[in-house]
Amino acid sequence: MDYQNKSKISVLRRKSNSLQQEDDVTLKGLSEEDAEHLVHELRVHQLELAMQNEELLAAQVKIEQSRKKYYNLYNLAPVGFFTFNLKTGRIEDANPACARLLGIRSSGLRGVYFSRFIVPEFQDAFCFHKKRICESVDGSTHQCQLDLIRLDGTSLSVQLESVAIKGPSDTSRQAYISLADITRAKQAEEALKKTKLDLEARVTDRTYELILKNQELTTLNQQLLEENERSRRCQMTLEIQTEEMLAAYKQRNYLSRKFVELLERERHAIGRELHDEIGQTLTGVSMHLEGLKHIRTADGTDLSDCVVPIQELLMKAMKRARDISHSLRAEVLERFGLLPSIKNLLEDVQNHFNIKIHLFTKGIAGLASEDLKINEKDLTIYRIIQESLTNVVKYAETKEVFINLILREKAFYLSIEDNGKGFDYLQFSTNQDKDPRRPLGITIMRERVAMVGGVFRIESQPGAGTHVFAEIPAD
Ligand SMILES: Nc1ncnc2c1ncn2[C@@H]1O[C@H](COP(=O)(O)OP(=O)(O)O)[C@@H](O)[C@H]1O
Ligand SMILES: [Mg+2]
Repeated sequence: MDYQNKSKISVLRRKSNSLQQEDDVTLKGLSEEDAEHLVHELRVHQLELAMQNEELLAAQVKIEQSRKKYYNLYNLAPVGFFTFNLKTGRIEDANPACARLLGIRSSGLRGVYFSRFIVPEFQDAFCFHKKRICESVDGSTHQCQLDLIRLDGTSLSVQLESVAIKGPSDTSRQAYISLADITRAKQAEEALKKTKLDLEARVTDRTYELILKNQELTTLNQQLLEENERSRRCQMTLEIQTEEMLAAYKQRNYLSRKFVELLERERHAIGRELHDEIGQTLTGVSMHLEGLKHIRTADGTDLSDCVVPIQELLMKAMKRARDISHSLRAEVLERFGLLPSIKNLLEDVQNHFNIKIHLFTKGIAGLASEDLKINEKDLTIYRIIQESLTNVVKYAETKEVFINLILREKAFYLSIEDNGKGFDYLQFSTNQDKDPRRPLGITIMRERVAMVGGVFRIESQPGAGTHVFAEIPAD
């Protein structure tokens, strides 16, 4: 029991003693029975009082505990609380947290106008808040946010939560107001707002950039489409041109083939003419000359001395005609095959033109094909050697020619090389197309090789000889 309770009890004891002294005075006239009855009554009463006293003491302890609890709650609360007089606008009581928030001692706050802490821009907001509390029923709550300024000049933002209550007198009105510091929350909110604004600005900028980029892309796309269309048209033109070129190429190939065939046929006809007509005529002349040999003239001269040299010349002419006929008809190929025909040709050229021809061959079959038809590739090889040797005889002014003919990996490799005076092949081939009466030997060689799917090439320089190459597929 604390000191306050003890002093209260001693006061009560003193009061009962004095009452008892007063009773003693009146008890003097009482009978013994009445006195006993009275004493009994008093004892019962005393017991009742003692019990009541105990109950009172227990209740007092409870009250004390509760008071302490609320005192602590009020004083140690982390949120600021203050009692506000709605009529005077002054702070009536404030807890330490409130004082801390406002930067002043708790006792120093009592009687202070709350509005002195409110920054000018928020005065109206607080007036409005106050008005709402005044007009509301007791116990209703209202919120409001304010910016405050402490005595030291620092500022803070607070959230006010106010409850309207009755004041000590019947007419007075008060408000319990809690004060929560929301400075950080506000700063965070401000920062958030700023970030949001920055972000929005960036989004706007980016959107604008994207719109521009999109426009650029649309233009680019348009250009690409146009370009595409142009290239499609070009491709079509190219396809048409290619088709035309292909047709022209086919036409040219066809004409070349026809030309070479015609050439072969003409050669053959001339060869036969030479062999049959001229040969037989010359044979007839020779027979007539044979008859003249035994005739004597009137002066007794023997004609044989004149006829024999004529017959010898005739024999030479007949042999030459036969050789030319053979070379023109190329039937030697039919009869003997490629290699013997080439050898025959070389022998003929060597005999007539006093030229030494070196022949090197590898992998070339000597016999003619069994069906006795002239193989187109054999004929091509034969004609190239023939034309090249003719050119050597006509232009090269040399006495030596080297011929290589090799069959390797399904292709013939033919080369005819002379070390004669040569010619400017580059200039010849450049000018050739312009000249309507151009020589045709080399052109026909090229056509023949192209017709059998081969490759033809000439290398020649003035003073450096001439080299003719041909690669012809064997199949
Ligand atoms: N082996 C060679 N040596 C020097 N000049 C040559 C040789 N072969 C060809 N030529 C030159 O190339 C020209 C063309 O020859 P070619 O096309 O065979 O036609 P052609 O024999 O009818 O003149 C010849 O006129 C000649 O000037
Ligand atoms: Mg020629």
